[in-house]
Amino acid sequence: MSEPGVLLRGGRVVDAGGDRIADVLVRDGTVVEVGQKLAATSVETLDAGGCIVAPGLVDLHAHLREPGNEEAETVETGARAAALGGYTAVVAMPNTDPPLDDPAVVGSVIAAGEHAACHVAPAGCITKDRRGHELAPMGELHQLGVRVFTDDGACVESAGVMRRALEYAGSLPGAVVAQHAEDAALAAGGHMHEGAWSSRLGIPGRPAEAETIVVARDVMLAELTGTAVHFLHVSTGAAVALVRDAKARGLPVTAEAAPHHFTLTDAACATFDPAFKVHPPLRTDADVDAIKAGLADGTIDVIATDHAPHRVEAKEAPFEEAPPGMLGLETALALTLTELVEPGVLDLAAALALLSWRPAAIAGLHDHGGPVAPGHPAHLCVIDPAAQWEVDPMRLASRARNTPYVGRKLTGRVRHTMLAGEPVVIDGVAQR
Ligand code: DOR
Repeated sequence: MSEPGVLLRGGRVVDAGGDRIADVLVRDGTVVEVGQKLAATSVETLDAGGCIVAPGLVDLHAHLREPGNEEAETVETGARAAALGGYTAVVAMPNTDPPLDDPAVVGSVIAAGEHAACHVAPAGCITKDRRGHELAPMGELHQLGVRVFTDDGACVESAGVMRRALEYAGSLPGAVVAQHAEDAALAAGGHMHEGAWSSRLGIPGRPAEAETIVVARDVMLAELTGTAVHFLHVSTGAAVALVRDAKARGLPVTAEAAPHHFTLTDAACATFDPAFKVHPPLRTDADVDAIKAGLADGTIDVIATDHAPHRVEAKEAPFEEAPPGMLGLETALALTLTELVEPGVLDLAAALALLSWRPAAIAGLHDHGGPVAPGHPAHLCVIDPAAQWEVDPMRLASRARNTPYVGRKLTGRVRHTMLAGEPVVIDGVAQR
């Protein structure tokens, strides 16, 4: 006996193939029909009138903190926050404790994700213990399904180690090496962007060059090895220019930007509120403009959250002592709509490409990212593009509270999210 189906009624279906008003009928985890005024028996009908029906969003960059820091987040709570944000898949960063440099630990995250509200794809470390010396067992991790390798939170400092990682990844189908591009020595001791604001505030800075030096070097290593490099959370105009140039030369590089790097600037640090502390740091107005231009012209492939939950007490420390990072999963879509689509920087389909099908392709999550068409897995989200709401940290599903957007008014909200045909969010309420 098959399960009752779900009918998404009256939405505007947007995927990589285009845009049309249609009902979407889902049965047994799969889209079975997309068309006008579908009639179906034995279905649960979810209203999508006035809404966008899109492939579920895919986050290339989320810290779910399990194992080791479950007070800040768990796979279960992070995946719930993700589903509420419209995500049907997230790549879970490996800077856990212990780190995801070992098949047994990766296996435990895969197991924890089995009943979660979205698909959880663990990334693996590039080097053992993220120390930058010895390669992690990338082949064994790849056999478990790992496709994204990164030491995120730490940069792979040694060009020799990075070269070996790229050469090895080149033999693993679909593998991508993702670099946290911040030269540790240049950024050492810094807590915000180095510039006029850091001088005025007397907070030691992290110069833009800490990022660009590593991006420039790794573009050269992508050329040397022919293996794909993905640049995590690109934050500077100079890095965007380097990626643009590398792509023009046909090199296998991709890049992501986080919503805070197109929404906020270093001026926010004048509050001394640790909610605005993040690595790489919030930059200048000119950098924000460059990130937007990079998103608009395709230089930047992906909007990724860099969701980085921290324990409430940890983020209550003084600015210079607090850990870097900010929540992102429940606000990324609305920030993209409010900051980029509403002002005309991107059209809706381009925004969804950055949030869904481009990251799905880079992470090898081929079940995700659409299309919304018969025979394809029903990983979908339904977005009310006109809904206005205000960010209230106490109403976020994440276990942590460190959002920098407290009180900010946003436009666009997730109404329903469907994972493998099952509504995991209905009318903005999590079902798992
Ligand atoms: O601000 C950050 N926080 N940047 C990173 O790269 C790591 C992250 C974390 O794990 O908290």
